Amino acid sequence: MHIVQARQFGPPEVLQIEKTEEPQAGPGQVIIDVKAAGVGFGDTLIRSGKYPFPLPFVPGWEVGGLITKVGPGGDRSLIGRPVVARLTSGGGYAQQVAVDAAAFLHIPPGLSIEQAIGVYLAGQTAASLLKTVPIIGGEVVLITAAAGSVGSLLVQLAKAAGAGTVIGAARGKEKLNAVSRLGADIAIDYGEDGWVEQVREVTGGKGADVVIDSVGGAIGQQALELTASGHGRLAMFGASSGSGITIETLGLARRGVTVIGALGMMLAMTEQQTRANAEFVLAEAAAGRLTAVIGQTYPLERAAEAHTALEARQTIGKVLLIP
Ligand SMILES: NC(=O)c1ccc[n+]([C@@H]2O[C@H](COP(=O)([O-])OP(=O)(O)OC[C@H]3O[C@@H](n4cnc5c(N)ncnc54)[C@H](OP(=O)(O)O)[C@@H]3O)[C@@H](O)[C@H]2O)c1
Repeated sequence: MHIVQARQFGPPEVLQIEKTEEPQAGPGQVIIDVKAAGVGFGDTLIRSGKYPFPLPFVPGWEVGGLITKVGPGGDRSLIGRPVVARLTSGGGYAQQVAVDAAAFLHIPPGLSIEQAIGVYLAGQTAASLLKTVPIIGGEVVLITAAAGSVGSLLVQLAKAAGAGTVIGAARGKEKLNAVSRLGADIAIDYGEDGWVEQVREVTGGKGADVVIDSVGGAIGQQALELTASGHGRLAMFGASSGSGITIETLGLARRGVTVIGALGMMLAMTEQQTRANAEFVLAEAAAGRLTAVIGQTYPLERAAEAHTALEARQTIGKVLLIP
């Protein structure tokens, strides 16, 4: 079978297709025939060496597919069932994976494997985030990278959680159109001058009650300025720009703004909580209340192109590899 392997850290081209033995299912394990492997922005950070990870490695931390084998003594009725699985050590950019029975979730009836993987980890992240920064009914919520894989689900979940106005901010016309289609009340292009003033104008000068940022850098800094004084909360869960937000705590204290380290709070959630959040988004998608935008799909051998597109801000919604 084929896998995509990185033998060194570096540019997307370090991702090379290779042939290897098919995985075997050990006790308590199943084999999944991968129909779609999710590619997240975090994958590009690991590939480029920004996070410590043992070399060589097969990237891919989430897959969707069909169970084809069960380990010794396993439940054979699972064979043929569609599932999504979380792979904590990677290995998802592959035609098949072996996973522990505890690591997969059944895809609810009526939901396609592509939609399931589209909402699975990104949706779990979005649902978990909204627990770190609960929205009070009617509040104004500003989301950066709102056309991204997590952002596009956050727009929908924030609205469903009772946000009065969701402002989706992203770069470029195509992304803004996607953000509007997903149900954002206002879509603003932060690639253009004047976006801060636009947010101020639509919020009557106050800014947003809740800001959810995964970009950091200059945009994150502006998003912090746009967090309403007196009660506003900014939850940060990523830094896709490559840098964080500089915070001057006395200014924060004077303004009465709360900054929430949402990434760490999500990572500290129990296995049960994250599983419940994943089950919630899968059920919402099956019920037609949550939709993943599958912006780009690539065959396995073009994994490097998927990473290049993500890093160049050319992707909308979820990026999938189809082995
Ligand atoms: N996927 C998860 O489950 C998960 C979990 C925890 C944390 N995170 C973090 O959440 C963030 C979003 O992840 P994602 O997988 O959903 O990615 P994504 O939002 O689909 O892609 C990243 C987006 O960030 C924006 N961006 C702004 N400046 C950028 C820059 N200099 N380089 C690249 N992108 C830039 C781009 O949108 P615009 O062009 O519209 O600005 C780009 O499309 C990442 O920081 C990731 O590390 C994700």
